Amino acid sequence: MSSQEILNFLSSGKWVSGEDLASRQGISRAAVWKQIQGLRKKGYEIESSTRKGYRLKRMHDPLDADMICEGLRTKWLGLDLRCFNEVCSTNDVARSIARECQNGTVILAETQTRGRGRLSRPWASPPGGIWMSLVLKPEISLDRAYRINMAVSVAVSRSFSALYGLDVGIKWPNDLLIEGRKICGILMEISAEVDRIGWAVVGLGINANVDVSGFPVEWRCTSLRQELGLEVSRIELIQKLLWEIEETYQRMHSKDLYEEWRRRSATLGKQVRITSASGDLLGEAVDLAEDGALLIRAEDKIKRVLAGDCIHLRAVGGI
Ligand code: BTN
Repeated sequence: MSSQEILNFLSSGKWVSGEDLASRQGISRAAVWKQIQGLRKKGYEIESSTRKGYRLKRMHDPLDADMICEGLRTKWLGLDLRCFNEVCSTNDVARSIARECQNGTVILAETQTRGRGRLSRPWASPPGGIWMSLVLKPEISLDRAYRINMAVSVAVSRSFSALYGLDVGIKWPNDLLIEGRKICGILMEISAEVDRIGWAVVGLGINANVDVSGFPVEWRCTSLRQELGLEVSRIELIQKLLWEIEETYQRMHSKDLYEEWRRRSATLGKQVRITSASGDLLGEAVDLAEDGALLIRAEDKIKRVLAGDCIHLRAVGGI
C-alpha cells in the first residue's frame, strides 16, 4: 500500500482504524504505522488514537488542474497547467520539459522531496504550500532577465495585498516578506544561447497553509495561515497570481513596473549585509537602480551590487 493510498482513505477527515487500513490492503498494522510516520514527516497532520485509529486533521484544498483552469482568466499563462502529488522539485520537472512545452506552462505539486532555494539551499515543501514553477520563453536578451524577477515579485506582492490586505515587501532581489518574515521565495533558472534566452523557469515557493512552527527560527518564516489565522483557498490564490504575473510580465520593461518594484521594496533604508563571490559588503541600502542593482552607501561611497545574498540588519535610525 502506498502512502498516497493511505492518504486517500484518510481524506474524508473521519477516523479510520489501523486494522481497517491494514486489512483493506493486506498489510500489517506495523506497516500502516510506518506509512503514517512517513506521511507525518512530509508534513501531513495525522492524529492517532489507540481506540479510534488515524485521522487526517487538516485536508488542504486539493490542487486540481481542472478546478484551477475553470476560474483562470489569463490569456496564455497556465493554459497548460499540470498538478502532481509529489515531485522532486517543480523546477526540475519544468526544466525537463522546457524546450518542448508551450510558453506559460505551469507545474504545481502538493509536496516536493527535494525543493531547492537560491544558492542550492534546501526548501521545505510540506503539504498546504504552493510549490509552483512557470516555464517562460521571453524574447529578451540575457542581460534583461532580472526584469522577469521584478515582474514576478511585484505580482506576488500585489496578489497578497489584493486578496488579504497584507502588506508584503520585496527584499532585494526577490524575497517576499511580511514584517521581516519570509512568506515567499523565488528561484529563476535560465537556459540561454549566445545572448538570447531560450527559456526561463521561475519557481515560486509560497508558505500558504503551511505550519511553519517547526521550521528553524533562523529561517524567519511565516505563512498566510499564520498571518491570517485561517486557511486560504490555494486555488483562488493561484488564479490571482497567474493573472497578476501575466499582467506584470507583459510590461516588464516599463518604467512603471520598475517604480512599483522600488515602491514595494522592504530593503530600502535598511542596514544590510550583502554576501557575494567578491566578499561581504555592509552598508545602508539607499536606492534601487532601473537595471535591478542595489545601491549601498558604505564608508561614504555608493556601491552598486547586481547580485548577492542580502540580509537585513536593521532600519537606519531605527531600533
Ligand atoms: C529562495 O528563496 O531561496 C527561493 C525558493 C524557491 C522555492 C520554489 S518551490 C517551487 C520551486 N521548486 C523548487 O525546487 N524551488 C522553487
